[in-house]
Amino acid sequence: MKKTLALFLSLLLLFSFAACSKTESDDGGQDAQTELTSVEKIKQSGKLRMGTSADYPPFEYHMLVDGKDDIVGFDIELGKLIAEELGVELEITDMGFDALLMSLQSDKFDVVIAGMTYKPERYGLFSESYYTEGQAVLIRSEDADKFTKAEDLAGLTIGAQKGTVQADLAKTAAEGVTVLELVKFPDLVTELKNSKIDAIVVDYVVAEDYLSGNEDLMISSIELEDGLVYKGVVVQEGNTDLIDVINPIIEKGLADGSFAELMQEAKDNAQYEIPVA
Ligand code: ARG
Repeated sequence: MKKTLALFLSLLLLFSFAACSKTESDDGGQDAQTELTSVEKIKQSGKLRMGTSADYPPFEYHMLVDGKDDIVGFDIELGKLIAEELGVELEITDMGFDALLMSLQSDKFDVVIAGMTYKPERYGLFSESYYTEGQAVLIRSEDADKFTKAEDLAGLTIGAQKGTVQADLAKTAAEGVTVLELVKFPDLVTELKNSKIDAIVVDYVVAEDYLSGNEDLMISSIELEDGLVYKGVVVQEGNTDLIDVINPIIEKGLADGSFAELMQEAKDNAQYEIPVA
């Protein structure tokens, strides 16, 4: 009897505590939404919102698939793997690279996957690196002997995509350099082909990809020392639970060789022909 009473009392105590803390933490309990973790929110919405800038083969680019325009590439496959793991649809939004992190911050996306290089100053929480390589300086083949070291670019106009780490790098590549920053990467290639600029600083693997359809371009022997090689998936600050879903996918893909395969496929499919005006 005593025992039952004690149990009853302690239960009563527990309930009143629970009731207290509930009224203190939220008045009315209407705000259940704000208590969901980022992963729960994504699962509830049924879709993973991915932001990218689809002008950057082999990471992401437009391609005609069965006669209709589609966005494909390594980052898209990575987005699909993450969506699959979460059991939701992948929703892709294509925009200028320079606007991606702002849009992530204002909750337009859950993830940005865009060949994005890790830099401490950048907004967001980065996953582990899923691709690790530095930059290339793309030039016209006819200039092969003219531009062999960074100093050869002094006083010239160099192109880089707006908002990228390469735009910053280009500024300090050599004395008196002018940097042309354009929103869409292929426009820079057109400028280079038309001799409006003399070089482009870009991620190495992307430079390689543009070479396949463009015999008149080449990667110069210029090396820009920077250490900026780490490419990660970016999520909103605080969403560590989402990073905890993404990192194991990256670790597995790197370890079992499937990422290397996906990258090769994306390279093979990307055949760029840049029209010369
Ligand atoms: N890796 C470079 C950076 O993070 C350039 C990435 C550009 N990506 C793109 N999808 N256009 O700044």
